[in-house]
Amino acid sequence: MNQRFITFEGGEGAGKSTQIKRLAERLEAQGHSVLITREPGGTAGAEAIRHVILSGAAEPYGTEMEALLFAAARSDNVQNIILPALRAGKIVLCDRFLDSSRVYQGMTGNVDMDFVLQMERAVTEGARPGLTLIFDLPAEIGAERAAKRRTEDQPDRYEKEALAQQEARRQAFLKIAKDEPDRCLVIDASQPIADVNKAVDTAVDAYLGAFEDA
Ligand SMILES: Nc1ncnc2c1ncn2[C@@H]1O[C@H](COP(=O)(O)OP(=O)(O)O)[C@@H](O)[C@H]1O
Ligand SMILES: [Mg+2]
Repeated sequence: MNQRFITFEGGEGAGKSTQIKRLAERLEAQGHSVLITREPGGTAGAEAIRHVILSGAAEPYGTEMEALLFAAARSDNVQNIILPALRAGKIVLCDRFLDSSRVYQGMTGNVDMDFVLQMERAVTEGARPGLTLIFDLPAEIGAERAAKRRTEDQPDRYEKEALAQQEARRQAFLKIAKDEPDRCLVIDASQPIADVNKAVDTAVDAYLGAFEDA
């Protein structure tokens, strides 16, 4: 399908939100129509679910319950925001998407991977990213950046977890990138912002250029 759908993945503090905003501004300045969304979130319903998950309110119910909530939020976002934007010909940029579920709930969580993939198929049909940028940096640096950025005193449900867990997630994202090289590109997110900008722009221009040549 002729959809331009880019997802931004990686650990806490890697620079995903910084880059998605900057990229959207650049693409819009070039005359593209761009939609930014994020997960969990994007719609009123999904943002409410985001609060339930990130506040830790769902944590006592277990990781499967959390995985179902992520899937519910994603379903709402896909149906009401992402698919309509793709159909309208917009470039859709999403801050976290299916790889975060694979990594956090499946690969480094304790939710059965088959269950994660079943939910993924159920809610992302017709909305598959063509390019996924995986922002890679040592967990320690990510945690420092996330702490500096934080506006609230308390880290959220995932930020508060141990560095070893963050590092395991990093390795899981890298494994996905290795397994799906046509879709995924690893960006060295430990570089100065100007270099990260350049890496993102090069990857995105190559991806979008392929649509124009087609
Ligand atoms: N390449 C970089 N070098 C140094 N600091 C960065 C870089 N990219 C982002 N930051 C800063 O790190 C913090 C986390 O970035 P953010 O984009 O919110 O990460 P994420 O969305 O991946 O959690 C922000 O304060 C941001 O300004
Ligand atoms: Mg962010």
